[in-house]
Amino acid sequence: MTENVNHDLKVDYTRDELARQHFASGLRSYVLNSLSGNMRTVYTKKVEPAFKKKNKRAPKTAPEIHKALKPETIFKFYSAMRCNTQEMCFRSVIPGIEREAEDLARRVKILGQNTEKAQGTLTVDPKLQIPRYVSELDVHLMAGNYHEEHIPDDVSQGAIFDNGLSVFAMGFLGPRMDDITQSVSTYFTKRYPDFKPKKILDLGCTLGHSTLPWKERYPEAEVHGVDVGAPAVRYAHGRAQSYGVTAHFAQKDAEHTKYPDASFDIIYSCMFLHEVPKKNIRAIFKEAYRMLKPGGVMLHYELPPNSMLGAYDSFYLDWDSFYNKEPFYKAFRDMDPQDECAAAGFKKGKYFQYTAPSLNFYGADAIDKAVADAKIHTDGENHMGRLVDGVQWFTFGAWK
Ligand SMILES: C[S@@+](CC[C@H](N)C(=O)[O-])C[C@H]1O[C@@H](n2cnc3c(N)ncnc32)[C@H](O)[C@@H]1O
Repeated sequence: MTENVNHDLKVDYTRDELARQHFASGLRSYVLNSLSGNMRTVYTKKVEPAFKKKNKRAPKTAPEIHKALKPETIFKFYSAMRCNTQEMCFRSVIPGIEREAEDLARRVKILGQNTEKAQGTLTVDPKLQIPRYVSELDVHLMAGNYHEEHIPDDVSQGAIFDNGLSVFAMGFLGPRMDDITQSVSTYFTKRYPDFKPKKILDLGCTLGHSTLPWKERYPEAEVHGVDVGAPAVRYAHGRAQSYGVTAHFAQKDAEHTKYPDASFDIIYSCMFLHEVPKKNIRAIFKEAYRMLKPGGVMLHYELPPNSMLGAYDSFYLDWDSFYNKEPFYKAFRDMDPQDECAAAGFKKGKYFQYTAPSLNFYGADAIDKAVADAKIHTDGENHMGRLVDGVQWFTFGAWK
């Protein structure tokens, strides 16, 4: 199941470890498909009719659905199983990573020194203050989060995210687990074919899944990724060198990066904002506005806002906020992305959003079709997030 970690930082797992990974992945698939389907059925057949009888109306909001479903056995079973399988994904990869931790750090060094295939750089800042919303959490139940270090030049937390994601994603994210940014960036290039960025920055890049596809789209551009986690950026550097992609990774806080004003053409993030508290998201947007060149673009792949979804789907996505150590998830999804872009300085008419069909699932033709459709339907109607009507990635942004 960790076969999607197909670069030089691959861990040599034992057969027992691989069997455990397969089991964790299979169980997770059962929870997300069968159990979640059963929970929906109990909601539709039992909980919603009972709510209607009592209140003379259907539930209108995600919190109402959450409250009504909470006493049901299926909700408790689903929640317990989801938390357990989430932990299993990480636990199934940690022993191998602990065994190889020193060797992984050594491999990253060697990959960095080998400049034949790629000439990427790595900058680590041991004095960087890790924000409390990272240092005080094990986000999505990932022990050690993105920043903890136990040995010199530790890359383990990067390896845990990479290997854990491979078990977690069940092949969903494509061969390099970068389908989201592959799809989002492909859509972007097709929708804005005349835009030729020279410098691109990926905020909260972790190990570069969201960074490297930009170099594929724009080979002439200088591509950077920043993250507060030193193990994350070290691993990102090694992974990029291994794939032969030149990218520059730095340990920096996206709220104050110290990059000069007007230095980037694209400032992007992927699955980053929902892990950040509201006031810090606002600081990050202002910092992005400052760093963007006039005519540049800020772009974020994220979970779709609650205002775009029905009450049940909102409840389903917000579950993570309550039970999966994603404390900022719901507050982020309650925000209006357009208002937040405007508050950071972007003009209202410069806002846009789109949903990119998954390149991995549907191919480039589906993206061409979505771009053509978007030119006709500009109301963002064909939106969606995960687990509903196909695999599509919601993206919003604004031009400076
Ligand atoms: C869910 S991960 C992002 C995943 C990654 N972009 C991808 O597509 O695979 C969130 C990342 O944001 C980083 N992070 C959180 N707060 C940050 C901040 N203020 N500045 C930079 N990185 C931050 C975390 O360390 C973590 O690596």
